[in-house]
Amino acid sequence: MQGIGSDDHVKGVDNGQMALQGKKIVLGITGSIAAYKAVELVRALTKAGANVRVVMTASAQRFVTPLTLATLSRQAVLTDQSAWEAQMPHLTAARKTNLLLVAPATAGRIAKFAHGLADDLLSTLFLACTRPVVLAPAMDAEMYRHPVVQDNLARLRSWGVRIVGPATGELASGVWGPGRLAEIGEIVQTVTEILCPQRDLSREVVLVTAGPTREPLDPVRYLSTRASGKMGYALAEEAVARGARTILISGPSALAPPYGVEFMEVETALQMRAVVLDRLTEATVIIKAAAVSDYRPAHQAESKLAKCDAPLMLELAPNPDILREIGAQKGARIVVGFAAETGDLVLRAHHKLMAKHLDLIVANDVTQEGAGFACETNQVVIIDPHGGAEELPLLPKRQVARRILDRVVSLRQQKNRV
Ligand code: CTP
Repeated sequence: MQGIGSDDHVKGVDNGQMALQGKKIVLGITGSIAAYKAVELVRALTKAGANVRVVMTASAQRFVTPLTLATLSRQAVLTDQSAWEAQMPHLTAARKTNLLLVAPATAGRIAKFAHGLADDLLSTLFLACTRPVVLAPAMDAEMYRHPVVQDNLARLRSWGVRIVGPATGELASGVWGPGRLAEIGEIVQTVTEILCPQRDLSREVVLVTAGPTREPLDPVRYLSTRASGKMGYALAEEAVARGARTILISGPSALAPPYGVEFMEVETALQMRAVVLDRLTEATVIIKAAAVSDYRPAHQAESKLAKCDAPLMLELAPNPDILREIGAQKGARIVVGFAAETGDLVLRAHHKLMAKHLDLIVANDVTQEGAGFACETNQVVIIDPHGGAEELPLLPKRQVARRILDRVVSLRQQKNRV
């Protein structure tokens, strides 16, 4: 299995090519413990062909030395001191670059950017920069969750700043939560997407279903599954990034719909079925990542069920299998299903693929750590009707989405050749 931060992995993100050849990137490094990871980030960006100009804040220099970064980036590092040694270095750097990346971005730095405070080289450069800006926050979980940090990030997003991460995991303080710098591969991928957009799905209309469904029992209770929607939302986001018109039909989820999708929210499996079938004729690719409840209460009580001492028997009615219905009338569409399993992964998933006439099925063992419901990562096997089973390593869901859509693109090419 590849390590997420390994060179191979970064290469994989860029399809092994010098994907950023000739691109100029200003990399701002701020004073977080994660500043040491910027060393690897510079290596990954330069390996991908980018010309990286590093700007370090005063506190970043207390974590890593400018000499290290100058050596790796093969050019002098800009610091606040540079402002006194050259004429308007912030304007020169802002005008010359194709993109400003700030990684790690501390809570203080995010606040400065969000409020236009321009009191050092990097903050003046941010204001002067008319090119895309990407921030990779890193801080402790409590700080990240603070409403003011969330407000500042929302403000920056509303101006088009792209925020990558943070990842959830063990933080420098020993606490577990959101706040880790995003994986280097994910940061490089985001930069590559912005500077060299891949448009290989621009002829497709991708319909993605995501999240759980909720099957009401009475006005206050429901049956559901543990799905969060993360995998489906990542697929929709990736499809948009690759040029597809994307329809996201989602069961209840706490996630914000990705920018650029046509979003439709449903609650029950029956509602999901109705909306999916309604939009089916438009779709050329259908990806059913939703964890649909197989059953619903046969009778929905009008008022709240009162407690009684006797056991309560629930009668459940089967829900229609939406994917099976789509598979039966798929025509030229590419149909991808998901299979959440707890054992006999490939065998059971392959059986579902054949029974539902799918082109691919993405199987994961939900009992495995880091895979399946509500995780940031997933480890899946992509199975085709000919018995092929591509095992992917444990990856962030966005990268899993990328690999699934790579398969969709090659399937389309095959279908077009026939
Ligand atoms: N699916 C669906 N409609 C349902 C149930 C499942 O469209 N009523 C889709 C899911 O979105 C997923 C695929 O079918 O893409 C497989 O779902 P899964 O729950 O793994 O399998 P089931 O076919 O429901 O079989 P089982 O629950 O017995 O494993």
